[in-house]
Amino acid sequence: MATTRALCICMAALSVPASAALCGTPSSRSQISPSPRSRAAWSSWRRRGVYAGREDILPLREIAASVGVAAPWTAPRWAWSLAWKCGHFALPLLHRWDPAAPADTNVNLWVLWLKAIAGNRRRTADGGLAYDMLPSATRRVVCRPVAWLYPRLHHQNVALRTAFLDKVVKAEAEAGANSSTIVCVLGAGFDVRPFRLSTQPDVSWVEIDLPHVVGQKLSLLRRLRDRRPALARQIDAVRHVQANLSHHEEMLAALRDALSPFRQTPTSTCSRRVVFVIEALMIYLPPAAAAALLASAVEEAAAAGASSVSVCFADRLPGAEGCSFQAARDVLAHAQLDLDESSWLPKPGLARHMGCARWAAATTES
Ligand SMILES: *[C@@H]1O[C@H](CO)[C@@H](O)[C@H](O)[C@H]1NC(C)=O
Ligand SMILES: *[C@@H]1O[C@H](CO)[C@@H](O)[C@H](O)[C@H]1NC(C)=O
Repeated sequence: MATTRALCICMAALSVPASAALCGTPSSRSQISPSPRSRAAWSSWRRRGVYAGREDILPLREIAASVGVAAPWTAPRWAWSLAWKCGHFALPLLHRWDPAAPADTNVNLWVLWLKAIAGNRRRTADGGLAYDMLPSATRRVVCRPVAWLYPRLHHQNVALRTAFLDKVVKAEAEAGANSSTIVCVLGAGFDVRPFRLSTQPDVSWVEIDLPHVVGQKLSLLRRLRDRRPALARQIDAVRHVQANLSHHEEMLAALRDALSPFRQTPTSTCSRRVVFVIEALMIYLPPAAAAALLASAVEEAAAAGASSVSVCFADRLPGAEGCSFQAARDVLAHAQLDLDESSWLPKPGLARHMGCARWAAATTES
């Protein structure tokens, strides 16, 4: 009981992840020049998510409202940082007796816990799917109603980007009537989007991630399958491709493998569409590798006969300074992608650029 309580306290701070940094710095500049120490002290009290004078980013409340979730708490930075540290402390304890033994690769395990908190606070978020991937004993620290005790910090930031991506991915995946669509999730981590969105049968899902992450995910999915037998068919239908996406040749081979179902079927009467999903992946890739991935994704899809490609992202675009639409659009244009202005929604956090960009075969033929 004492252990559980200690974990609960930690998890409270934990309320989640990949957002140690802000979307740029708040613009309020001090008139005096303070010493580095007092500047650091002042900075730790600055509220995260408040951007007076920034024109390239909406107030956090409006961003959250536009995707239909409550805004994260605009807490001082020290609170976010404390939550982050507690999470790191708690994670090994939470998986100490877990036979699936997942590692926290690029905070993907931490994000899974954050998604479990978000899912248990708001069941419409994922119906408790992330929670059902977690180990039986320790997952109680984020069960209902305990999940409500965590302040709206990191988990809410993750909930926000999840809600955004789910909406755009579902719309893109189902936009093509009578077409054969592959949704390819790049750096899928431990996310369960294919089961959360339950798309049409003519939409197939493939996920690419590092070999050891794929191995751990398959263990977690076996657990999900045992707890949710009704999902077995859907779980088995998702393909998993292993690759280090920072390694150029591996990245190309993985894209070809992921899109190979198109190559195996003769050019049929229906058009081929590809929807790429990128959630907090490029922040962990060298910028050159991230740019190459975007460009190759479009090229490989075109080579596989796709008539349209959509890239749905909640990430940091390589080389896009700040959060302006034009900067993001220019970066995506290098990959032949056209950023949809109505989808563009930058937000605080490391994975600060959210939007949907498209390529269509007809537009490049001339
Ligand atoms: C889709 O296919 C069905 C039958 O296969 C056909 O009746 C329908 O008109 C098609 N829809 C479009 C938009 O092509
Ligand atoms: C992925 O590839 C890059 C570049 O080749 C390398 O630096 C990195 O260590 C690799 N990462 C993993 C997890 O293997």
